Parts: sequence; C-alpha cells; structure tokens
Amino acid sequence: MNFQLTEEQLAVQQAARDFAQTELLPGVIDRDEHQKFPAEQIKKLGELGFMAMMVDPKWGGGGMDTMSYVLAMEELSKIDASASVCMSVNNSLVCWGIEAYGSDEQKEKYLRPLASGQAIGAFCLSEPEAGSDATSQKTTAFDQGDHYLLNGTKNWITNGNSASYYVVIAQTDVEKGHKGINAFIVEKTWNGVTVGKKEDKLGIRGSDTHSIMFQDVKVPKENRIGDDGFGFKFAMKVLSGGRIGIASQALGIASGAYELSLKYSKERKAFGKEIMHHQAVAFKLADMATEIEAARLLCLKAAWMKDNGQNYDRVSAMAKLYASEVAMKTTVEAIQVHGGYGYVKEYHVERLMRDAKITQIYEGTSEIQRVVISRDVLK
Ligand code: CAA
Repeated sequence: MNFQLTEEQLAVQQAARDFAQTELLPGVIDRDEHQKFPAEQIKKLGELGFMAMMVDPKWGGGGMDTMSYVLAMEELSKIDASASVCMSVNNSLVCWGIEAYGSDEQKEKYLRPLASGQAIGAFCLSEPEAGSDATSQKTTAFDQGDHYLLNGTKNWITNGNSASYYVVIAQTDVEKGHKGINAFIVEKTWNGVTVGKKEDKLGIRGSDTHSIMFQDVKVPKENRIGDDGFGFKFAMKVLSGGRIGIASQALGIASGAYELSLKYSKERKAFGKEIMHHQAVAFKLADMATEIEAARLLCLKAAWMKDNGQNYDRVSAMAKLYASEVAMKTTVEAIQVHGGYGYVKEYHVERLMRDAKITQIYEGTSEIQRVVISRDVLK
C-alpha cells in the first residue's frame, strides 16, 4: 500500500489551502450571517479549475484524479463549507454525470461552460415527498413526440438560484416505477422554470438552497441523459461519487475544527498552564486527530477505488457515514475546548458545528448510507 501523495496531489492540496486562507476566510462570518452566496469566490474557483477537477481537459476540465478532489474539498471545507458544497455538487453530481453518460452534443453545449467555471450546475432529485425514498418521484416528464413536458417541484436544491443548468430527475412512465425515470438537462431560462423560496438554514448558510418549480417546461428529446429509463440508476451512480465529495467536506469541517482547537489550546491558559497540558483537553485532541485520520483514509480509499475503476458504492457510503459523524462529534468537542469563546461567531467553531450537521443529511442521510452498506454486507 502506498500512502505517499504525488507531487501533483500535494500541489493541488497546497493551492486549495492557500485559496481557502486568502479568498474564503475573509468574509466567511458575514456570508454565513447574511446568507450571501460566495459568487466571486466560486468564479475564481472555476478559473482555477476546481469546479470540474476530474473532467477531461478536452471538455475544459482539470483532468485531475478523485484523490486530488478529496484533498481540495478537505482544505476548502476547513474554512467555508458553503463554497465547498457548491463546488462538490458541480463536480460530482453535475459535471461527472454529464461526462460519464451524456452525449458529445450535451458535453459541448453544457459540460464545457460548467467545466470552465462560466456556468454553475444543480442536481434536482429531492422532492417534498421524495428525499430518502428517491424512487417516489412525483415530477413527471411525459413524451410529447419531439420533446418531453416537465412538471413538478424539486426541494432543497443546492445552487438553486446560482445555477444556469439543472440536471432534473423525473418520472416518464409511472407504470414502470424506477425503470420509468429519466434524467434531463434543463436550462434555467426556459419558459416554465421558476426559482422558488430560498431556505433559511441552520448551516451552510452561504450556499443558495431553493425549491425549483417546473410548469409545462418543454425539454428537447436530445436533453435526456442516456437511454430511456436510465434516470434512477444515473442518479444512484452520480450520488455514489457525490458521497466522496460530501465525505471530504465533512472531513474538512472536522479538520478545521480540530486545527482551531489545537491552536486555541496552545494559547489559552487556565490553572497556570496552557489548556493543552490538561489531560481533559489533550485526550479530546487525541480522539479528534485519530478519528479524522480514519475518516481521511476512508475518503482517500473511496477516491482511489473510483480512480482505479473499482466499485466504490460501499466505501463511498462508509466514508460519508463515518466522516459526517466525525464532523459532528469533532465540532461539538471543539466548542467545548473553546469554552465560552466557542459559542460566539468570531471563533468559527460554532459555524463549523452548524455546517457539520448537513453532512449527515444531504446526498443521503446517515440512515441511507447504512442501507447501502448493509445491503452490500448482507448480499
Ligand atoms: N448504481 C447503479 N444502480 C443502482 C445503484 C448504484 N449505486 N443503487 C441502486 N441501483 C439500482 C438497483 O440495482 C435497482 O435496479 P434493478 O431493479 O434493475 O436491479 C434500482 O437501482 C433500484 O434500486 P433499489 O431497489 O436498491 O432502490 P430503493 O428504492 O430501495 O432505494 C436507496 C435505494 C439507496 C435508498 C436510494 O433511494 C437512495 O440512495 N436514496 C437517497 C437519495 C439521496 O441520496 N438523495 C439526496 C438528494 S441529492 C442532494 O442531497 C444534493 C445536495 O443538495 C448536496
């Protein structure tokens, strides 16, 4: 087993670390408080190739491996999980899906601007009554000959307002259940597409999460991704890779909280010595470091399996399940290490704790990850 990162991977990690410090850290508290989307920062991430890291350079992507994506997601998420979720959705749920299963025409028209950072994408699967139970789609897209007619409402859509293009999952044949589901690329400016209310969230408050309504939207036949009936499997495959991104986001949130705790415990004195010399604090730091290392190994293993053409469904679910639990536990403990300072905004750890919670919910709750893992374990 080779645990040594390549020079290229280390360079990506350093570039992401620098970007997080210089571009994301200033203003992160303000963006969280006032729910401001980091538009400028996302544009710069696009220019630097972070918005489509794994896409082939022939379509304008970064041509990097999934391990580099994990490293970049960790560094950016240490500072700003609102920016990193935008990046993760664009990379994993939108660009990867179009590159893997889209037609060359779709890649030319949609992937190229998405990969170069000129456009942002969103993934529209969840509905008011279909979050975890993703086969129960109420959004329909019925075949009208030369186009599909799309109707329905999608909820909790990351990049909902900032996106130019949506990948929309819809039922095209109700009788066929999950085999009657398709995925479509839909443009935001088309007639009948409406961006609904912005969610006022506990965490990742800088990300723009909206409901999206589709009313009699004419979707050209050529905008269906893959063969007829492939939409549910497409969604599952895309989410499997997306879970590596969210696991790395959770890892980054945990590492960010740990690094702040370590720094604080070296500076803060109580009972005549720096608090790191009190075993109660030192043991917390030891647990944080151990669990973060284990989460990092799971994230990198899932990425390595993806890069090496192996089935990564089980390990990506394990990485997301474990890293999100580590993120939650670490951020709660980080506040405890900071005492009263941890409870106020300027010390960052309270935001990290609020941001951590969503990693146990989106792209499949922890319970859904256990469904995926247990089915694989028991088969
Ligand atoms: N790859 C390929 N095919 C897959 C697959 C995978 N990873 N997982 C399932 N399938 C296939 C199955 O083989 C089956 O096909 P056949 O009938 O041909 O054998 C079909 O899909 C249906 O599978 P299941 O019977 O397992 O489906 P299910 O209804 O029991 O659901 C589930 C499985 C794992 C619970 C799934 O519904 C799921 O993952 N739910 C969570 C959805 C989710 O993650 N939502 C998040 C929304 S996006 C988001 O959060 C983005 C954001 O904002 C950041």
